Amino acid sequence: MEAKRIAVLTSGGDAPGMNACIRSIVRHGIYNGFEMVGVVKGYNGLITNEMIPMNNRSVGNIINRGGTILRTARCLEFKTEEGQKQALENIKKNNIYGVVVIGGDGSFKGCNALTKLGIPAIGIPGTIDNDLAYTDYTLGFDTAVNTVVEAITKIRDTMASHDRVSIIEVMGNKCGDIALYAGICGGAEYIIVPEYEWSYEGLCTKLEESKAAGKTSSIVIVAEGAAKGAALAEEIKKRTSMDTRTTVLGYIQRGGSPSADDVLLASRFGAHAINLIKQGIGGRCVGIKKNKIFDMDIDEACSMKKDFDKDLYDIAEILSR
Ligand code: ADP
Ligand code: F6P
Repeated sequence: MEAKRIAVLTSGGDAPGMNACIRSIVRHGIYNGFEMVGVVKGYNGLITNEMIPMNNRSVGNIINRGGTILRTARCLEFKTEEGQKQALENIKKNNIYGVVVIGGDGSFKGCNALTKLGIPAIGIPGTIDNDLAYTDYTLGFDTAVNTVVEAITKIRDTMASHDRVSIIEVMGNKCGDIALYAGICGGAEYIIVPEYEWSYEGLCTKLEESKAAGKTSSIVIVAEGAAKGAALAEEIKKRTSMDTRTTVLGYIQRGGSPSADDVLLASRFGAHAINLIKQGIGGRCVGIKKNKIFDMDIDEACSMKKDFDKDLYDIAEILSR
């Protein structure tokens, strides 16, 4: 009997650990008797029929590589009925039995669309933002936090030498987890996130207090969705006369080798996804809670609202004194 075929794709923004996850999906798939194919450039590849056979060797030497060897894309066409019809035609032509998608909540909606069309599809959370409520962590978040902490540590040297206030803008549109975690681990004086209210008055008072307490330089971490670093620097200078400098970390947060934690997460997520597909299950996403890998219904997962970790924010505040 011919082996069933599983396709894997990465979709939306890339995140460190996606390659380690592709490796895990492919090797677990093959171990379980499936044939594996990689889809190029997210859902685009399903529509344009760009698929490549994958085996244990094609995922060699990628465990620690950033980005995604399959490449990724945002594919608007896949949101349309026409696009999905074309994708289904190619899926059938290539004898694909199930699909594993690594991406964010948008990509998960694509999994649901495929599952409704009769192709079981499973979502694995891959995004540096950690903005999915149903899971404690998304793939790539830990690496991004480590990258930001490394950057803060370097920037701190110069700010300390020059008695400056450093404003560091990090990624995170609706979710401030990168700012919060990296702010704590990098010893920031003030953290600004989209989920928690802040004011210029509060910020400048804090900076003045830090100066009065003997600090000669300070670090402010701001999530891009909360405020722009350059505007903050301008306003702080105006209100306090302190010397300010801004750094926008940008895409260095998305690249680079995944941390050991992310490689472990990628390996575990991939194994779980194959287990689900093996049972013919689709429309579910994989996550981690209290260090246990689990899965849940995609619609349910995407409708959950992420709680802001006020306890962690309070810890950051006390540690910044
Ligand atoms: P992320 O997965 O990181 O949240 P996007 O929201 O940009 O990123 O979604 C990635 C891709 O997932 C989209 O470009 C599209 O191909 C697919 N997608 C998003 N929403 C839907 C939807 N409602 N139906 C089908 N596919 C979708
Ligand atoms: O979702 C991850 C993320 O890095 C966001 O924090 C950021 O706003 C966005 O992607 C930028 O994506 P791109 O520039 O690739 O469109």
